[in-house]
Amino acid sequence: MRLAVVIMAAGMGTRMKSRLPKVLHPLLGKPMLTHILTAVQPINPAQIVVITGHEADQVTARLNSEPELAGLPLEFVLQSPQLGTGHAVQQAQSALAAGGADAVLVVYGDMPLLTTQTLQQLLTAYQSGTGPLVMLTVTVDNPRGFGRVVRNDAGFVTAIVEEVDCTPQQKAIRELNVGAYLFNARWLLKNLPNIPLSAKGEYYLTDLVGMAVAQGLPVQAKQLADPLEAIGVNTRVHLAEAEHALRRRINRRWMEAGVTLLDPATTYIDSTVQLGQDTVILPNTHLRGQTIIGQNCRIGPNSFVENSTIGDRCQIKFSVIENAVMEDDVDIGPFGHLRKGAHLASGVHMGNFGEVKNSYLGPGTKMGHFSYLGDATTGADVNIGAGTITCNYDGVNKHKTVIGDHTFIGSDTMLVAPLNIGAHAKTGAGSVVTRDVPDNSLVYGVPARPKKENSQTLE
Ligand code: UD1
Ligand code: CA
Repeated sequence: MRLAVVIMAAGMGTRMKSRLPKVLHPLLGKPMLTHILTAVQPINPAQIVVITGHEADQVTARLNSEPELAGLPLEFVLQSPQLGTGHAVQQAQSALAAGGADAVLVVYGDMPLLTTQTLQQLLTAYQSGTGPLVMLTVTVDNPRGFGRVVRNDAGFVTAIVEEVDCTPQQKAIRELNVGAYLFNARWLLKNLPNIPLSAKGEYYLTDLVGMAVAQGLPVQAKQLADPLEAIGVNTRVHLAEAEHALRRRINRRWMEAGVTLLDPATTYIDSTVQLGQDTVILPNTHLRGQTIIGQNCRIGPNSFVENSTIGDRCQIKFSVIENAVMEDDVDIGPFGHLRKGAHLASGVHMGNFGEVKNSYLGPGTKMGHFSYLGDATTGADVNIGAGTITCNYDGVNKHKTVIGDHTFIGSDTMLVAPLNIGAHAKTGAGSVVTRDVPDNSLVYGVPARPKKENSQTLE
């Protein structure tokens, strides 16, 4: 069976009160639309038509730049003006006719929690039935303004009625229209043009249900097992609910995969993050973007890791890690900050109040207290004394500092870049190093000078 998908994303999203189109509002770092497209991908549609309207260019540009959507058979169709969900699908008529699908899955772009399994169940129900359409419903206490599913005495679905058009009796119905439908393509294309104009001045997609019933055709309703999947985001309150539900889903998946979350309620893991076995995440930790964390790590509490790669057996306490790499057995914190381009090789120890930017710290290097390294490279087993700072910026340009293997940088050393410090060299406490230091030598003072061969004391 050749399958097409239509995703509606043209609406204003008025109730969000936002300049950003509703369907681009992020959940765990990704736009709502990306979530729904990611759920659709595994059912292998031959064609995906996205209906855009409000801020169409922004929506198209964003979807085209999402790495996880590359390779999807996406097409964009403009709906202008936006006269309702039925009108939205009418705009896809010629694209659908050209695509030649046998069946069409229609979903709303504001339903980011729908899962692939549910869509698959809808497909299975459609294939085992004979009707022109299968719809998804959910039964919950709070109707949240959803369309009500009306059934006759025999229990068959006869119509979907929008809340504004409900009689008081219909308003009391608790079976709701979720907003995912599977249509026979031929039937859909034939009937789309006949949707009547509603009292509200819109063309409702949901009227197709009543139209099928009027033609004597069966409408199947598939009940959603997990009501959380039905969260449709109309307001920022719904957005927070959806975020919460999605976060719980992701956290549960990681716990089932062998990651300990001490307090899942305060653990924030983007859907794009990867975690290794037996890693422990402590409370109030945010793992964001393209972050990969290895096995047996201990992350948190109170840490923020974004777009970073962390090896095995690492520890991060009360720290911020952004666009950085930590190899195996690295520990940082409390209160460390790795910025863009920081790369800590295996076994590096970085204690409290350290900051590293665009720098490589060689294996086994120790930087225990109050230091800043920017645009620097250290060799292996370097000791960076408390308070050491690379003076990498002269007010106009940034300069590099290179520190050799087994070097001992004394406490409170100022390394005025550009600068090379040789292997096995030492700097005295408080020195301001303005010139290169040869291998195996000691410099000290302000500005730093080499120690004379046979002087007994450091002056
Ligand atoms: C819709 C359903 C309702 C269902 C609910 C589930 C209709 C008439 N109503 O109501 O039965 O219970 O979803 O969440 O279908 N859109 C367009 N073009 C338009 C109008 C809307 O593309 O002209 C898009 C929106 O961007 C949005 C989606 O369609 O992604 C749904 O629109 P929305 O206004 O949120 O519909 P609901 O009132 O929630
Ligand atoms: Ca909605």
